[in-house]
Amino acid sequence: MSSSILTAVAWPYANGPRHIGHVSGFGVPSDVFSRYMRMAGHDVLMVSGTDEHGTAIQVQADKEGLTPQQTADKYHRVIAEDLQGLGCCYDLYTRTTTRNHREVVQELFRTLHRNGYLIAERQMGAISPSTGRTLPDRYIEGTCPLCGYDGARGDQCDNCGRQLDPADLKNPRSRINGEVPEFVETEHFFLDLPALAGALGEWLETRTDWRPNVLRFSENLLKELRPRAITRDLDWGVPIPLPEWEDAAMKRIYVWFDAVIGYLSASIEWARRSGNPDAWRQWWQNADARSYYFMGKDNITFHSVIWPGILLGANGQGDKGGEPSAFGLLDLPTEIVSSEFLTMSGSKLASSRGHVIYVRDFLRDFGPDALRYFIAVNGPENQDTDFTWEEFVRRINFELANEWGNLVNRSISMAHKNVGSIPAAGELTEADEALLQAARDAYATVGDAWGRCKFKAATTEAMRIVGLANKYISDQEPWKLKDDPARRDTVLHVALQVVSDCNTLLTPLLPHASQKVFEALGGTGVWAAQPNLIEVSEEGGSPYPVLTGDYTAQQAVWESRPIAVGTPLVKPTPIFAKLDDTLAQTGPTWAPIE
Ligand code: MF3
Ligand code: ZN
Repeated sequence: MSSSILTAVAWPYANGPRHIGHVSGFGVPSDVFSRYMRMAGHDVLMVSGTDEHGTAIQVQADKEGLTPQQTADKYHRVIAEDLQGLGCCYDLYTRTTTRNHREVVQELFRTLHRNGYLIAERQMGAISPSTGRTLPDRYIEGTCPLCGYDGARGDQCDNCGRQLDPADLKNPRSRINGEVPEFVETEHFFLDLPALAGALGEWLETRTDWRPNVLRFSENLLKELRPRAITRDLDWGVPIPLPEWEDAAMKRIYVWFDAVIGYLSASIEWARRSGNPDAWRQWWQNADARSYYFMGKDNITFHSVIWPGILLGANGQGDKGGEPSAFGLLDLPTEIVSSEFLTMSGSKLASSRGHVIYVRDFLRDFGPDALRYFIAVNGPENQDTDFTWEEFVRRINFELANEWGNLVNRSISMAHKNVGSIPAAGELTEADEALLQAARDAYATVGDAWGRCKFKAATTEAMRIVGLANKYISDQEPWKLKDDPARRDTVLHVALQVVSDCNTLLTPLLPHASQKVFEALGGTGVWAAQPNLIEVSEEGGSPYPVLTGDYTAQQAVWESRPIAVGTPLVKPTPIFAKLDDTLAQTGPTWAPIE
């Protein structure tokens, strides 16, 4: 049965190019999942964009001597190119500085306000003594008052996961220049999370198939919910849509409140661009629709509690009741798919410290599918995972090139050389049947794993079939069957059929390579569709790039396609180049030295 699936991918900050840690968290997992769901016949809407407001962008702008808008323009394009290079098949990858986004954010803000879920309160806010500018929570560092961790940030402690107030930190200091912040009184709007806690708790109780750690973490957050400030003393962000506040030059909506609303605004923008402005409702107002949110673990709070809280408040479903926004009742997340961190030599990747491998460099030298493969088999799916060049080279050479690449290459080469086309099979032996059956059975196991975001398990199972096929060829020794062409052709037919099946099983993960394998088997047209980077604009606005694509036109479907006997074959070129062994020791010249 076909369902409506919303793939909601975390929005990267417009403060620099993406590194492989970023895309191992949100980019590759969400794309593999969406590609599988599309192949399985579901209606997928995959949306995201660049997160362009807030301090992260302001800080970067100051560093480069640009305005925040120039910085956002620059990195939105760079990031969209990174994601396109990886083959991420967004229906729409947009940005948060659009008018559409601002209007959707303001509508939800006004609704929450009207429904009583926003309260204005005075609080102590930090300012930088040297510049007089406000110092946002995320840019204050100190010791967590609850667990004693020294790298806690003003908004949250990454060690114990609890929400903090910068004024609670012991030994507070600015992460920008190290100075000790000063605290002054300032008025802000707070999301009344305690008034939403009951509704959030009831909803969390229905999330029985969440990973236990995410569920427990979120339930714990509910126990200590406090109202949370959703405005900032800042001049870069969405203005507060209330009469007395609209013109306040230094009051803006907090970037996190605006960014999560991007999932909805991007869906609405996509619908408008598709020519059916109401089309987004299929994924947001549909009891049968499912929504999957992809992110790194540091984003869980915002997706499992804050965003659902915003939705409940905007629906009028908290303790204070209320009327839904202009968008009507909106669905809450079905799944939170979070990943752990990719590390290098034990510490998190960080552009600021040069401890980083950029997606762009990686793609230029190794191509997208090598990175996608590596992230699936050796990424931080369940625990923080260290990236090493040695492991990368080993995985690519021994698995992708030797196992999969070689299977494709030798079976197609032999068929090309001996027959010139896909040969017909004669009577099948037990070994033939067993291999064909193993490949057919894998659709259920591998598909189930892709659909449940068990990327390692899915890859391992698909590669197990590749291994069986290689063993089959070695056992059958078709090169020794010159005198028995009928049997030789049968073996080659079976091998090619299983190559075709393995290619389908691996298509969500290796979309670029799968297109080549499809063509090497004589296929024509688009097997696995890729995203396009196009320029769009809003009425009266300047053009900006977005990623989008037509993914319904692709031929890849999650089922075994019988290969067509007689299809001409040409001599194949290797799909995966083997990497030089010295790379395992040194890494490429552009990689950081440890
Ligand atoms: N920009 C944030 C980050 O990089 C993520 C925003 S995700 C969204 O951590 F939910 F806000 F969209
Ligand atoms: Zn802590």
